[in-house]
Amino acid sequence: MSEDNIQTVKVLSKTTWTPSLFSFTVTRPESFKFTAGQFVRLGVNPSKLQYYKQQGEAQSQATDAAPDEDIFRAYSIVSSPFDEVLEFFSIVIPDGAFTSQLQHLQVGDELLLNTMPFGFLTLARYQQPLPKDLWLLATGTGLAPFLSMLQDLQTWQDYEHIVLAYSARSQEELAYVEQIKQLQADFGSLVDNPARLIFVPIVTREPMEGALTERLPQLLLNGELEKRAGIKLDNDNAHVMLCGNPEMVEDTKETLKELGFVMNRRGEGNIAVENYW
Ligand SMILES: Cc1cc2nc3c(=O)[nH]c(=O)nc-3n(C[C@H](O)[C@H](O)[C@H](O)COP(=O)(O)OP(=O)(O)OC[C@H]3O[C@@H](n4cnc5c(N)ncnc54)[C@H](O)[C@@H]3O)c2cc1C
Ligand SMILES: NC(=O)c1ccc[n+]([C@@H]2O[C@H](COP(=O)([O-])OP(=O)(O)OC[C@H]3O[C@@H](n4cnc5c(N)ncnc54)[C@H](OP(=O)(O)O)[C@@H]3O)[C@@H](O)[C@H]2O)c1
Repeated sequence: MSEDNIQTVKVLSKTTWTPSLFSFTVTRPESFKFTAGQFVRLGVNPSKLQYYKQQGEAQSQATDAAPDEDIFRAYSIVSSPFDEVLEFFSIVIPDGAFTSQLQHLQVGDELLLNTMPFGFLTLARYQQPLPKDLWLLATGTGLAPFLSMLQDLQTWQDYEHIVLAYSARSQEELAYVEQIKQLQADFGSLVDNPARLIFVPIVTREPMEGALTERLPQLLLNGELEKRAGIKLDNDNAHVMLCGNPEMVEDTKETLKELGFVMNRRGEGNIAVENYW
């Protein structure tokens, strides 16, 4: 990784969704440009994170134990390419090298940002002419790149319907629901059609009113996803993007292939994917 691309950014806000899910915003370096759907590498230096300073008695032990090296991980950008700040949505893996540190972030802390944007889970990968519909299928924090795309007016102008199906284990882990409804209202009115975005929440491990309960591949096979979306999902009319759990991506991709969909290569084919681990 080139040192030239690494800049320090400051944490501006933090939202805790559950003990294992949170979001945060950081300052955006002026020169940093990206396309909706891309990811960056964020870095922490455990021994420098401010929380150690605030742990009183535990401080000296923690600083001794903390490795004095930067740890970087890939993070999709939630915010739009036009925002002044950068937003991220993170899991906490209790024994994960990165997130066990990142979970203690506080406003005012510094993070490292590699300002080289990566990734091809972008709408630019598809060639014209575009089909009518865009289907965005996410599990967990895999929602992030789709939130960025949905804050880009071009996405709303390019597709007649955008279906966002978002699967989490429990209702409390279904983050960003209010923000999704706000996007529906705000961008929907800009294109004179709030119904252009069809949001399909999926909660798999407990009942939730208004949410589907099965996994995405089953919902594709039994027709429940189409039924809930109120539109047909067919090969001629749709781009389909998958993001999140690699097993979901694999199982859903194979299901879509059985239904006649084709992986997107060199602009052609409908399916595009990103695995988070
Ligand atoms: C292209 C790309 C984009 C990514 N974007 C995001 C993002 O926006 N938000 C985010 O939280 N993570 C994202 N990740 C995952 C992220 O890079 C790290 O894996 C995550 O922060 C955990 O780091 P860790 O060192 O604590 O644990 P790791 O050692 O990296 O992971 C340990 C295990 O935790 C599980 N795991 C890792 N990441 C996740 C996750 N996001 N959700 C559920 N389980 C997970 C897997 O079982 C993994 O094997 C992305 C990964 C890739 C490749
Ligand atoms: N969620 C928690 O309570 C929690 C807490 C601490 C740590 N973790 C760790 O975080 C990681 C995963 O957390 P997560 O809940 O964000 O992600 P996840 O396990 O990927 O679950 C998110 C959603 O993806 C679905 N899914 C999983 N595999 C699928 C597949 N093959 N096809 C279709 N859908 C699939 C899940 O359905 P199912 O419910 O059917 O699996 C769930 O609805 C694990 O390493 C876990 O140990 C989780």
